[in-house]
Amino acid sequence: MGNDVRTVYAISQMENPYIFGEPLRSDRMFFGRVAERSEIFRGVTKANKQNYLITGPRRSGKTSLLYQLKTRLEFPFVPLMVTPESFGHQHHELFRGLLLRLRDQVLEIVGKELPRIDWYIANASAETPIDMFNYYFEKDLKKILTGLSTVSSQARVVLLIDEATFLLGESSERDKRVPDFRQEFLRHLLQAFDRVACVLAGTPQILRMTSVTSPLYNIFSGIKLRGLSRYETEQLVREPARSVGVEFEDEAVDRIIDLGGCSPYYTQALCGLSLERANEDVRQSVLLPDVQQSAETILDTLDYGLQSVWEALDPEEQEVLAKTAKEPVVVDRTNQDVISRLVDMNLIQKIVRDASTPAERTFASIKAEIDEQWLQRQGV
Ligand SMILES: Nc1ncnc2c1ncn2[C@@H]1O[C@H](COP(=O)(O)OP(=O)(O)OP(=O)(O)O)[C@@H](O)[C@H]1O
Ligand SMILES: [Mg+2]
Repeated sequence: MGNDVRTVYAISQMENPYIFGEPLRSDRMFFGRVAERSEIFRGVTKANKQNYLITGPRRSGKTSLLYQLKTRLEFPFVPLMVTPESFGHQHHELFRGLLLRLRDQVLEIVGKELPRIDWYIANASAETPIDMFNYYFEKDLKKILTGLSTVSSQARVVLLIDEATFLLGESSERDKRVPDFRQEFLRHLLQAFDRVACVLAGTPQILRMTSVTSPLYNIFSGIKLRGLSRYETEQLVREPARSVGVEFEDEAVDRIIDLGGCSPYYTQALCGLSLERANEDVRQSVLLPDVQQSAETILDTLDYGLQSVWEALDPEEQEVLAKTAKEPVVVDRTNQDVISRLVDMNLIQKIVRDASTPAERTFASIKAEIDEQWLQRQGV
């Protein structure tokens, strides 16, 4: 009797392990990114620290990767997750937020009272002279770092700054007359303090902002988040389902790979919605029609689709992408730069035809069928 009740409960509450939309905070649903993760980990922890700039289009997994780093960095490393969104974008808001959060975190680790942050920092406003603000900020930062070094001489703070677009973009739409010193100050801090390393994450559009004129140019090493490998995508489809006793049919897996183009987000969305359908029918296997139906749902729900990625592209990129959605495009000297950028964003892939013959040519074609269908529906 007891067992029967448990069975019924298990069916009605069948678990759906897939997560799409929210950043992943734990290991369980995180797949791939092994090379990227270990390179960044090595760089920010080695004696001669290296800073990183992670770029990837919307929903490529930037925030999830930062969380992975956060959970892996153990003392003497002190990871600090920073979102300009949560602190405010202005110079004093951003750096004060950072200092307060850091102080709390160090307090937790060191376990003894640290001096309060300076009155000047605590009460700074947009009118506060930036030079003075920076002076007191550095003084406070030194105190915190000294507090840390009493626990370990190896201690280092690792700033994990998400949504860097806000930091690197215009200071604020409201007030463009105020010069923006945030980038200069961040560079100064990273150069002046060995004990502070930094990983920035943002969309590929920030590469235009960190051009040669940016003070951050040259002190960051770039990491581009492309799609997962086919093998990793297959694992992402099959393993979570297996953990709840469900199998994806081979045909369904192949279809997910074609539709999602090995994008971790599309893969999770397709899997999650397909599994839901199987759960509704109390089936232990996910079939091809489940996947087809899920793709329809994704296309009908604006927020799932390509919209935000598309809007961030420049007109040249949009034009080439729209063309590849109709038919493969020959890569030549006039379009190769745009195509490389779209390849980096996991939107298109290059295919060589007639390799090693005089007829050899490289074609670019769209990567995820979902994107292709979305573009067709938009009529572009
Ligand atoms: N390594 C991964 N393994 C499995 N799924 C992933 C991975 N990375 C991202 N995802 C999927 O993509 C979704 C979005 O991830 P995340 O929020 O980290 O992306 P993002 O690049 O920070 O997006 P945004 O630009 O919107 O902030 C997750 O909810 C998850 O479904
Ligand atoms: Mg994010």
